[in-house]
Amino acid sequence: MSGKHFDKAAAGWDQKQRRVEMAAKIAAAISSTLPLHKKMTALEYGCGTGLVGLALAPQLATLTAVDTSTGMLEVLTQKIKSEQITNVTPLRLDLSQESLTGRFDLIFCAMTLHHIKEVDHLLARFCDLLVDGGYLAVADLQTEDGSFHDAEADGVMHHGFNPEDLAKTLTNLGLHQVAVQEIHSLIKTNDAGVERTYPVFLLTGRKG
Ligand SMILES: C[S@@+](CC[C@H](N)C(=O)[O-])C[C@H]1O[C@@H](n2cnc3c(N)ncnc32)[C@H](O)[C@@H]1O
Repeated sequence: MSGKHFDKAAAGWDQKQRRVEMAAKIAAAISSTLPLHKKMTALEYGCGTGLVGLALAPQLATLTAVDTSTGMLEVLTQKIKSEQITNVTPLRLDLSQESLTGRFDLIFCAMTLHHIKEVDHLLARFCDLLVDGGYLAVADLQTEDGSFHDAEADGVMHHGFNPEDLAKTLTNLGLHQVAVQEIHSLIKTNDAGVERTYPVFLLTGRKG
């Protein structure tokens, strides 16, 4: 989907219960899999309205919440203001085209990788941005038949992934403790009115 699609969807994004539930599952899986702590500096890539990031932020020192959609970032900024959150900084940035200075103890990315054309390039950028000993966590759809997104959706670059292939990519990039787990089954009724189940994986690894 284009930035404009997400800009338009932003105001109503959190109203879909299945999205809220999935984000809670992803946050819980990251939290139970990785040793998060209050001194960690974290980057979330494709933060959207912050459903995952704001659930994890209380366990972290700081969270830089990156997205390309101004609309999504505006919703997140409103939440930060109204909930008086002091350790989350929204940032509009496209890492596939722009650079970022700084290094992070944790990078996580939820349901965003399938919108990225050059996945291997982005995963390499994540690895560059991690400190030695830092953790990466990626949650996304397992390979699906293309029915997950509505017909009008654009910017869908991948119909999910084989997580084992992504695990190999992370290993080749030098990460270790690379592991994959299935963390959620998303139930969604598609355009044809057929209810489908889409498994979601969490891929994790450690640098250095
Ligand atoms: C399906 S939403 C997931 C949002 C959030 N992670 C969640 O789980 O609720 C995908 C997000 O990725 C963002 N996105 C799409 N392409 C991107 C890119 N190239 N760089 C950064 N963010 C991008 C979109 O704006 C959107 O907020």
